[in-house]
Amino acid sequence: MYTSEMLASMKNVEKTRNERLHAAISRMGAEEKDELLQEFHPDYRSSGFQVLKVGPNKGSKVPVELAELLEGHSRLHSDQLDLNQVDYDVDVLIIGGGGAGASAAIEADNGGAKVLLVTKLRMGDANTMMAEGGIQAADKANDSPAQHYLDAFGGGHYSNKPELLEKLVLDGPLAIKWLSDLGVMFDKEQDGTMVTTHGGGTSRKRMHACADYTGAEIMRVLRDEVSNRGIKCIDYAPAIELILDDKGHIGGAVLEDLDSHEHLVVRAKTVIIATGGAGRLHYQGFPTSNHYGATADGLVLGYRIGTELIYADAIQYHPTGVAYPAQIYGALVTEKVRSLGAQLVNSEGQAFMHPLETRDVAAASIIRECTARHKGVPALDGVALWLDTPMIDILSGEGTIAKRLPGMLRMYEKFGIDLRKEPILIYPTLHYQNGGILVDSQAETKVPGLYVAGEAVGGIHGRNRLMGNSLLDIIVFGRIAGRNAAASSAKCELGRLTLAHIDKFEAELKAAGIETTVVAPKLLPTYTHGRQARVEK
Ligand code: FUM
Repeated sequence: MYTSEMLASMKNVEKTRNERLHAAISRMGAEEKDELLQEFHPDYRSSGFQVLKVGPNKGSKVPVELAELLEGHSRLHSDQLDLNQVDYDVDVLIIGGGGAGASAAIEADNGGAKVLLVTKLRMGDANTMMAEGGIQAADKANDSPAQHYLDAFGGGHYSNKPELLEKLVLDGPLAIKWLSDLGVMFDKEQDGTMVTTHGGGTSRKRMHACADYTGAEIMRVLRDEVSNRGIKCIDYAPAIELILDDKGHIGGAVLEDLDSHEHLVVRAKTVIIATGGAGRLHYQGFPTSNHYGATADGLVLGYRIGTELIYADAIQYHPTGVAYPAQIYGALVTEKVRSLGAQLVNSEGQAFMHPLETRDVAAASIIRECTARHKGVPALDGVALWLDTPMIDILSGEGTIAKRLPGMLRMYEKFGIDLRKEPILIYPTLHYQNGGILVDSQAETKVPGLYVAGEAVGGIHGRNRLMGNSLLDIIVFGRIAGRNAAASSAKCELGRLTLAHIDKFEAELKAAGIETTVVAPKLLPTYTHGRQARVEK
């Protein structure tokens, strides 16, 4: 399956393997990391960003592709619909059918609310489903939420919102118990204790996993729970505009039926945005590990009614995306591969960094190795590095890959690559938006009655998230948002519904001299594998 050029370089990897198995690789110091990030991390590439001219973040920079959507036109005119003609009247409307939306739905249902969950594609079509390596929680005797906090705070460059991070780590053990009680089958030792591993930047082994399909297992259970409770869900019905009432409280949303293109009016006392990330916008031409629906819709909807974004310029490039073969280009190669012992190795067979540096540092280090140092391996129309997977079974015992990474093994086997015997080629892939909509510790925005959970939230992880803290935040903040939305809807009397904010936003665009044909939210991505425009120095 590999080309002759790749096979020649692979010989270097094999030649140095024995020596590397026993050599300790030191971690980078703080100053070295800072310099590396500034020079090689895509977040520091000014051409990838644009300063917003309108809205609550006017004057801040965000990725160019996101700016175009945030400053785009609505899909509706303010007077296009009779908002008295209500199709659904509910207490809690949840927009998004991934792990955060499902968790919110379950808790809102527990709170006695009438819940409607709407999804752009199908329930479970989300980044949650694609999460592989695990979910962090400090529930072992040698660990504590305080230790978890320190790891995530350091990894986030000390910019995490303390009140959000505190909730995340304190509720971590509860989240694992909640999921286990619902039926998630976490990996366990013979005696029933959870198997836990390290992730990049963790000081304790606190990554709980279901082999290498942790997100799919969690989503399986959450989706069943939502369905068993009879919670109303509508597929293929994305929200295209939020509705306010005449007092500025959230009032619901307009949906578009993707089959008939009819508009549906949902009157809701509270709304939870759980629309996930933005990988399918392919920032700076990067490929992505994200689900097809990840087009930043929630950020656009929220921005137009005045919710502020935080750290929207902090993007996570997962260090190990598939760089070869083409059929799975950009797909995720879980960090767990490195936590189980695989090293990152350049074309000359050198291990150039500690395998468990935090993601931003690891991605920048790989880009430096490929560009400034010219030690990449030609792969497709770019260059890549080796991830020396055969080291895993040598270090941890034969059968470890088959047992702990069965999904990865199968994915590569389809293309004639046996990762137990041969290393694989990787390059950073667009994985996560570290930033998002600003919320308080109750998951509420400054628009009364509007909550956010999951990847659409900003601030929990600061400017760089650690592995496994995303599966955790969708559960922790999904549940908080669901509970609070249900409680608040019980006290809410909605006023007259209005879409007047569309006119206000249009006036802002005009005043700023923005002439654009872009309509947003985007809903479905423009297809691109993103290879041609990949960042090279
Ligand atoms: O590498 C991974 O398995 C990804 C996990 C995450 O983004 O949390």
